[in-house]
Amino acid sequence: MEPDSNMSEAAMHAAPERRPSVLLVDDERKLVELLGAVLEAQGFDTTIATNLADATKLLQALHYDAVVTDVLFDGREDGREVLGATRELQPHAGVLMMTGRAEIPAAVAAIKKGAADYLQKPVDPVHLAATLSRVMEEQKIGEATLGFADLAGILTSMVAHTIERVDPYTAGHGARTRKYCRMLAQKMGVEDRSRERLELAGIAHDYGKIYLDDLTFLTKNGPLTPAEYEEVKKHPLLGARKLGTHPMLKEVCQYVAEHHERWDGTGYPKKIKGEEISLPGRILCVVEVFDSLATKRSYKEGWELPKVLDFFAEQRAKMFDPDVLDQFLILLGEHGDAWLKAPAAARAEAAAKKAADQA
Ligand SMILES: [Fe+2]
Repeated sequence: MEPDSNMSEAAMHAAPERRPSVLLVDDERKLVELLGAVLEAQGFDTTIATNLADATKLLQALHYDAVVTDVLFDGREDGREVLGATRELQPHAGVLMMTGRAEIPAAVAAIKKGAADYLQKPVDPVHLAATLSRVMEEQKIGEATLGFADLAGILTSMVAHTIERVDPYTAGHGARTRKYCRMLAQKMGVEDRSRERLELAGIAHDYGKIYLDDLTFLTKNGPLTPAEYEEVKKHPLLGARKLGTHPMLKEVCQYVAEHHERWDGTGYPKKIKGEEISLPGRILCVVEVFDSLATKRSYKEGWELPKVLDFFAEQRAKMFDPDVLDQFLILLGEHGDAWLKAPAAARAEAAAKKAADQA
């Protein structure tokens, strides 16, 4: 076959694809040299720093797509300083923390300060390369060229690697909420534009929990105290503030902020009621409560269908928009048994994946 002359011309003048640049920071030189060698073989350009001063100088002088830093250097939490310097000097760059088991709370605290994720030591370099690729994808969330499918993929990844990882009981909650929201919105004739934004809010509605001051609430063995409940109430607005500035996310953030508002005005944070809450916000409320009831927690089993239906009947026109609820009950009639089994299946899958990763 004749070669396409235009294609050949274009190929001849195409710039070679730039390799992503990564700064590796750890006081154990041998460790970072090993990680660097593997990352270079996987297509990254790497630079090594073994102390905070050198790392800061490099961040001032060169461009990095990502920074990987140990949490503890010589017994001090200099990793936090590297994170702070990166956020200030190169806010586009994703930051990954490497941590020993005892330092995991510090690594989670780093996520709240803007780190993308943490890896537990000893770090498998190939796993590090895969995580870096994912983190760099997530950093693109503000790019205006991204479409619905791109944003859905990025938000799914962000949620899976933050709140659903900290609280394994919620594995898959965002994906299920998205799916049920899509089906309910289609059933109710919501136009595609709003339905897509609702799906994104379904994925990310609880993302703000990762920014709560104390993440032990998420997994505590029992119901929340009144003070803890007041703290948890901050998560809808935290999520709405932290999701990003992509134009498509404006309404997504509104629906996230509304997901705990209630039809009768007894929700939070603004206590708005009725049609003051957007229709997607009212759909998200019904769907999200259903999947939470279906999910086993450290202090409760997942609910059976009759108990769920009793609860919904009791809360019709109280917590929930009656029209939205009535349509959702039709979906539950068709899919309720499968949907009630879904959280346990997702949790088992997440546990098996975690065990395989640690093997
Ligand atoms: Fe929530």
